[in-house]
Amino acid sequence: MKVLIVGSGGREHAIAWKVAQSPKVDKIYCAPGNAGIAEYAECVDIKAMEFEKLAAFAKEQAVDLTVVGMDDPLVGGIVDVFEAQGLRVFGPRKNAAILEGSKAFSKDLMKKYHIPTAAYENFTDAQAALAYLKTTAKFPIVLKADGLALGKGVLICNTPEEAEAGVREIMTDKKFGDAGNCMVIEEFMTGREVSVLSYVDGKTIKPMTSAQDHKRAGDGDTGLNTGGMGTFSPSPFYTEEIDAYCRKYIYQPTVDAMAAEGRPFKGIIFFGLMLTADGPKVLEYNARFGDPEAQVVLPRMKTDIIDVFEACIDGTLDQVDLKFEDNAAVCVVLASKGYPVSYQKGYPIKGLDTFKGKDGYYVFHAGTAKFGGDIVTNGGRVLGVTATGANLKEARKNAYEATGWINFENKYCRSDIGKAIDEAE
Ligand code: AMP
Ligand code: GLY
Repeated sequence: MKVLIVGSGGREHAIAWKVAQSPKVDKIYCAPGNAGIAEYAECVDIKAMEFEKLAAFAKEQAVDLTVVGMDDPLVGGIVDVFEAQGLRVFGPRKNAAILEGSKAFSKDLMKKYHIPTAAYENFTDAQAALAYLKTTAKFPIVLKADGLALGKGVLICNTPEEAEAGVREIMTDKKFGDAGNCMVIEEFMTGREVSVLSYVDGKTIKPMTSAQDHKRAGDGDTGLNTGGMGTFSPSPFYTEEIDAYCRKYIYQPTVDAMAAEGRPFKGIIFFGLMLTADGPKVLEYNARFGDPEAQVVLPRMKTDIIDVFEACIDGTLDQVDLKFEDNAAVCVVLASKGYPVSYQKGYPIKGLDTFKGKDGYYVFHAGTAKFGGDIVTNGGRVLGVTATGANLKEARKNAYEATGWINFENKYCRSDIGKAIDEAE
């Protein structure tokens, strides 16, 4: 088979690595890819939003399967463009990717189908939102831009003043562009966060092993929100009891709701959950693998990923025996100092070869580029260093040890990825 992967981050590197394990695959392309993905795939200089060019490339090269890793092209309708041209593609159509593309849509869906989530109101008018803050709101409160905003469109506001400024930022100043044409104001919840990614074929859902992300830039969950500074899998807080509850009241009901709405979902549903005192509730849905959740979940997946992708497309996921290793994985993101605000690029990266031939150690490229003979830093998040272990503690020790093998100027990472593991004991 020939496989095309669309995207260029650590997530797509993890997908490419996993696809390369399949005996069915003999050629991988990645558009646009990055310097690490180039080890498994031929990188193609087409951007993820150039749907017609991508489809033309897939036809020319007789690609058998295209896998879309990123949210922007999915929400923009890349799957519809491929399908219209008779090309096989893994991911939700535009009318289903709206589950991630519009937070107002997903909140209304949850309300209509009684899926547990925070209480909320949607607003398309800044004045109405401001009036709501003056009358009904309780603080702290959460403001969310409706559309895609690189994970940055969520503001947690402690006072009415902060919330009013937030409404102006989102709706009047359009800090997140058109994503802020509509916004959700919702109840602030407390509890542990868990990410559960799942494969879906329109009717059947198979959840993967759980993971936890660390969104803030600094140790102790301080500083600005980022795309994610590290992950671990599984979450010790995601018990069998919680899993059974979520399957019954959240996962299957979400898939059934989408089908009932005439928007059958095929692809990945990523459930961002909060384990509250009143039970698990949905924080958000994503329509793709998490980044860096994929970097801890995929190294633990035993099943051939091509079989799973094909089953999702063909509607035969009920026949797949999805299996994960009984181990643990931790991913520590090596970032450029200054991320997520401003940072320098172009520094040579040393030590990548140390990972070669070491079982259970992975270095996934997020923001790298080739420059002359060197691989250099080319983004805020540069690398995701993942290690597995028999348990979470061992995986964390191994991952932090491996972060020391890599050097580049302005290298920065959090030192407390997976600290919650100790609290679970
Ligand atoms: P989201 O992109 O919707 O997952 O939001 C980003 C982050 O904001 C989440 O991972 C939570 O840490 C936080 N967050 C979002 N919604 C809420 C909420 N209703 N209550 C408390 N924290 C929230
Ligand atoms: N790590 C969170 C996300 O991929 O949205």
